[in-house]
Amino acid sequence: MTARIIDGAALAKSVRAGVADHTAELLKRQGIKPGLAVVLVGENPASQVYVRNKSRACEEVGFQSYTQKLPATATEVELLGLIAELNENPQVHGILVQLPLPPDINESSVINAIHPIKDVDGFHPVNAGRLASGLMSLVPCTPQGCMMLIREVLPDMRGKKALVVGRSNIVGKPVAMMLLQADCTVTVAHSRTRDLPEECRQADILIAAIGKPEFIRGDWIKPGAVVIDVGINRVPAADGKTKLVGDVAFAEAVERAGAITPVPGGVGPMTIACLLQNTLQATMMQSGWA
Ligand code: GUN
Repeated sequence: MTARIIDGAALAKSVRAGVADHTAELLKRQGIKPGLAVVLVGENPASQVYVRNKSRACEEVGFQSYTQKLPATATEVELLGLIAELNENPQVHGILVQLPLPPDINESSVINAIHPIKDVDGFHPVNAGRLASGLMSLVPCTPQGCMMLIREVLPDMRGKKALVVGRSNIVGKPVAMMLLQADCTVTVAHSRTRDLPEECRQADILIAAIGKPEFIRGDWIKPGAVVIDVGINRVPAADGKTKLVGDVAFAEAVERAGAITPVPGGVGPMTIACLLQNTLQATMMQSGWA
């Protein structure tokens, strides 16, 4: 049996269309236009692409996007000053500081400086704590996208065994909290986990977020499992160029899983769609409608 391929590009498109409809209503009825500030420090080429894509996606759904670029030599004090201004600016409903930051800037100080109500990445400790407590919050985009992709094929996750491979603050920890909230029995595996293949073989839902190309092999997958591949790894291709692969060996896994996300076209497109949704939610919260 080959797995159902979960189409993240199609789901992202419908989420974006929903955000665009709500945004048009908000502007028509209340005269409010959601604004997202994206801050880029330095010249990391991948970050430049991500920031450009985020700002283009904002414009497509009718948001105002504000891209703020600081040189790689910018100090933490300068960045904190910019965040303070954005926190005060009523036209800016969401603030996203693209990570990673240059080594001399403390990531955690910067995340802590963003007002939690404008923290559309959901990385502020207040939002992380609210998520862990089961309270309404702005939640990280990639984990939110993973949950929507699982629900496409498994609307009721109650009692399922979920394994999250990776314990980052951006993906592993928050997605584990969301799976728990959906009544899964959750295990978080990481680099010190013993016998990862055996842990994987127990999982009805497997989330791979480790950043190692094709690390999870097909025979680790429980037959019929739902596999969500968060990895985006660039590797050499046969033709001398490069290609993107996930953290799961897709060609093997597709023969065992019940449903699986491809790379590209799975989790990736959902991240920006959820960022747009979060920005709309932040706008509603700041306007007193949520
Ligand atoms: N760098 C890689 N992923 C992300 C993300 O989701 N948000 C931010 N701000 N930076 C990132």
